[in-house]
Amino acid sequence: MIPLFPKHTGADTTIFSVMSALAQQYNAINLSQGFPDYPIEEDLGNLLYEASRKGFNQYAPMAGLPILQEAIATHTARSTGITFGSPNITITPGASYGIYTALATILQAGEEVIILEPAYDSYIPAIEMNGGIPVPVALNSPTFTINWALLEESITLKTKAIIVNTPHNPTGMVWQQSDWDRLTKLIAERNIYVLSDEVYEQVIFDGLPHCSVLSQPALQDRCFAIYSFGKAFHNTGWKVGYVVANEALTKAFRRVHQFLAFSVNTPAQYAIATYMQQFPLNNSGILLAQKRNLFNELMGDLPFTLPQVAKGSYFQVADYSAISPLPDTEFAAWLTKEVGVATIPISAFYKNGSDAKLIRFCFAKKEETLRAAIERMKAHLIG
Ligand SMILES: Cc1ncc(COP(=O)(O)O)c(C=O)c1O
Repeated sequence: MIPLFPKHTGADTTIFSVMSALAQQYNAINLSQGFPDYPIEEDLGNLLYEASRKGFNQYAPMAGLPILQEAIATHTARSTGITFGSPNITITPGASYGIYTALATILQAGEEVIILEPAYDSYIPAIEMNGGIPVPVALNSPTFTINWALLEESITLKTKAIIVNTPHNPTGMVWQQSDWDRLTKLIAERNIYVLSDEVYEQVIFDGLPHCSVLSQPALQDRCFAIYSFGKAFHNTGWKVGYVVANEALTKAFRRVHQFLAFSVNTPAQYAIATYMQQFPLNNSGILLAQKRNLFNELMGDLPFTLPQVAKGSYFQVADYSAISPLPDTEFAAWLTKEVGVATIPISAFYKNGSDAKLIRFCFAKKEETLRAAIERMKAHLIG
């Protein structure tokens, strides 16, 4: 066997695959991985079929189908008030790829990238595979707000980028304009890029606005905004997303993209574009707010506490310290095997595995799934 040297310090198998496999093995209700268990809109599915029947079956243009770029431009103009066009919008095979490719575009070996922990688990491997050094900065606990002093201390001459994620996986927190103002000030005199993972931009609750990096004039020449259709259209398996950046950065991004994926699933691009034209108003925020409300109300009967109520995303973090002294990975395994409910331990979102006795529930599930999970937990955890 020729020796293989690992290119990143991430897990061999992501925690999402581990917990989903465990859920299957123990016939547990899967509230771990972030994907809906309800169907996509019938019209969207029909459009995928229509795309194939109409002959949209060959390679799409490298940057994306023009009709999809136009639909995104319309959406982005509505959400940010700024007009971006096809020179700014690149369709990608999902957001993880967009993040990886943006890092590949900007990073030189040995440069540092700041991430705010808990952080989505693809960031560190993507930084490392591109020769960079991840620099984790912990959010304040249990408010999950930004520790600005620590963030400032973590910036060095080698800092090349910071990855922001709003709405945030796993905590459900959202960036406000005041957060962007502070970050803008902090990096104003430094050559630091901002990669803003905004995959849950439409999944935001309680009338809160989504504050995008694209709405920050001072950051426009140094940012990549990264999106996924999977979250807004409940079709995570289609793996279609996009990246918005200024023309120069987009050109540089495409130099890499054309030799990585080159282009993205054509019928899916057609279907999403046509759907966006026909149904310009996305209702995923309303739908998921109802699910969050139901889930959190039912959780009120259980001995968990919620450090924060999710303001966006698919996820609710819960503290189980009143139930068990186990470390979070063991507690999550126990909950899956013995209680029949799969979740994600929050330590998986920290490079050093920091454990504060928190787990993450995904509430992007049918009402009956959420109720059944709560009933199982009630049966085991109460009385
Ligand atoms: C914060 C965050 N970023 C990126 C992704 C990946 O998105 P995609 O499936 O489009 O690659 C996810 C998926 O769960 C996510 O939660």
